[in-house]
Amino acid sequence: MIKPLIWENDILKLIDQRKLPLSEEYVDITNLEECFDSIKDMIVRGAPLIGFTALWGMVLDIKNNPNYGIDEITKSADYLKTARPTAVNLAYEVDRAVDLAKDSLDTYEQRLRIFAQDQMDLLYENNLTMAKIAQKDLESRFGDKKLRLMTLCNTGALACGPMGTALGVISHLASQGKVEMVYASETRPYLQGGRLTAYELCKENIPHKITVEGAFSYILENKLVDAIFIGADRIVRNGDTANKIGSSTLAIVAKYYGVPFYVVAPTSSFDLDSRTGDEIEIELRPEEEILSALDSRIAPKESKALNPSFDVTRARNIAGIICEKGLIQDPISTESLLKVVES
Ligand code: MRU
Repeated sequence: MIKPLIWENDILKLIDQRKLPLSEEYVDITNLEECFDSIKDMIVRGAPLIGFTALWGMVLDIKNNPNYGIDEITKSADYLKTARPTAVNLAYEVDRAVDLAKDSLDTYEQRLRIFAQDQMDLLYENNLTMAKIAQKDLESRFGDKKLRLMTLCNTGALACGPMGTALGVISHLASQGKVEMVYASETRPYLQGGRLTAYELCKENIPHKITVEGAFSYILENKLVDAIFIGADRIVRNGDTANKIGSSTLAIVAKYYGVPFYVVAPTSSFDLDSRTGDEIEIELRPEEEILSALDSRIAPKESKALNPSFDVTRARNIAGIICEKGLIQDPISTESLLKVVES
């Protein structure tokens, strides 16, 4: 089983996702600054996983600074939140770490460790619940047919802990022999699909083909895919969903060709304080990620690049949002979303 994050002997060990699939190397994280850098530099990535990494970062911080009061703890949390702005899970998890300190500073470190471990233990259960909800909906649409599925970016164990979210649905179905083919969109420029999703699919022997984002229309017009599953970095009250760049394009093309497009994400990915996708801050990443490949410049040296890391898929283009509490079905509205998420 892939272990992206291991807590061992008071050290956080992160598999260096920048080096996958060519080498499997772990990096030791021993303090808050290293934790911040690991998130910012994408040693660790994926919305739920950066949330858990930050939680363990808070554990390391209080272990290293046992005399910290609530002000220092809040400052550390605020610092971690700035590592990456779009995925709400990061803020969600560190805010909960601060809440624990606000309850009491007595035995804070010990309680925070237990809390972090409990959250990790819940992951598999929640991911499995979401996969089962997805399976039920797919069966109502397609019966017993072996499915051809498509996904973008990486939403497997590397991004979300055991099983994964959108990729967890695929792996759950595959374990029952219900997947004919997976199309993994490579996800320029960071190649989370071509490197990480393909790596996870190989580990599970799931048949797959890597495609480029430019092939969306070709693939869907030629009816190569029955359904699409993506994850989420932030889902707001009306169902608008921020996810990896290219998600919105895929959803629009899917709607055009009548292919159901699902979002799968735990309730920690919901931001109920924001009303629409217009309120989501989109992370702009370094130009170098586009202008270079494998550490070599590929674009003319005078060229510049624009590198938004996420886009917003509008709720009207989503067939269903699945969280561990249930399915929010098209037509998605603030009311239908809150009914499930707040249940
Ligand atoms: O920039 P990343 O790789 O951290 O992006 C996160 C993602 O993998 C996705 O957009 C994803 O769907 C949310 S995490 C399951």
